[in-house]
Amino acid sequence: MQHLIDLDDYPVSWWNRVIALGKDIYTNPGRYKGACSGKVMGTLFYEPSTRTQMSFQTAMLRLGGSLIGFDNPATSSVSKGENLKDTTKIVSGYSDVLVIRHPLEGAAKAAALTAECPVINAGDGGHLHPTQTLTDMLTLTMEKGRLSGLTIGMCGDLLNGRTVHSLCKALSCYPDNKFIFISTPELMVPQYVKDILSSHGCEYKEVSSLEETIPELDVLYMTRIQSERFASVEEYEAQKNVYVLDRKKLNLGKSDLIVLHPLPRVDEITMDVDEDSRALYFKQTKYGVYVRMALVLTMIENKDTVQLLKGDILNSTKCTNPRCITHAEKYLPKSFIKSGDIAECEFCDERILL
Ligand code: NCD
Repeated sequence: MQHLIDLDDYPVSWWNRVIALGKDIYTNPGRYKGACSGKVMGTLFYEPSTRTQMSFQTAMLRLGGSLIGFDNPATSSVSKGENLKDTTKIVSGYSDVLVIRHPLEGAAKAAALTAECPVINAGDGGHLHPTQTLTDMLTLTMEKGRLSGLTIGMCGDLLNGRTVHSLCKALSCYPDNKFIFISTPELMVPQYVKDILSSHGCEYKEVSSLEETIPELDVLYMTRIQSERFASVEEYEAQKNVYVLDRKKLNLGKSDLIVLHPLPRVDEITMDVDEDSRALYFKQTKYGVYVRMALVLTMIENKDTVQLLKGDILNSTKCTNPRCITHAEKYLPKSFIKSGDIAECEFCDERILL
């Protein structure tokens, strides 16, 4: 059985197949009615969500399947102290596909280790969000007609925004994409993302002005400042409202610019922008349903097995990322990929100097 923890687990040809299937479902929805009849999707949402959770639920219902799960761990046995391993084992035993969102990094991979059905990562802390990336890629395919040769501006909380990290990684695999990161120095995109872009030969630059950058862009990907990932309220307050896209700034953009946002929006896009035909973030949420229908079908039909942990167990080494799942779920193997004197945690990808 296969899981979707990170898009990197699959070749680009697999992503293209899922996106093409999403496009076909969007164009011919009637053909897929009942394709998951008799199947059950389990959803374990340990962290708040509107779009991701409901678009998965809508996807399964539109395919004729059924749903079980929770959206608030406080109302499940998690509140009695049940560990992730047991909850996953039980709910995956009731399901044909399991969708998990969790505040800790690496949680989806941890769940997949014991799951009895395919697991889909619906966001693990600030780490990855592969299904939002598939949504963004279907949106680009439908609205720009391509995934290559694009100048993409990413604006806002580029440090904590998992959707930004996943999307940059994915688009770096297509030719001639150029990235412009618009953020404050405190919320710059992590070094590991820049390393990936460099290793694929992608051009990128880091800038501070949204106004000066907009005229160059084919795509503007706005993000909210992730209040829940800040150490203090003061640090969050200093960052919020630094970048606000309004009608005046948007008017500096090309006529075929498209504005995307994974949502929820807080204050970073004024509401008058919604009326502009270039504002595609609400349409993007609709594409999310079709690409998730494609993904669910692909995962349920695929019977191949996947090896989740490939590295070495280093029992005396601790992951230095405080938000890594290995600290909360202590039974997890301390599994790292070693390269020279660097060990990379197999759950959250943190690199540790040995
Ligand atoms: C994003 C997420 O959860 O990471 N939202 C989403 O999936 N639609 C972005 C965010 O929360 O800011």
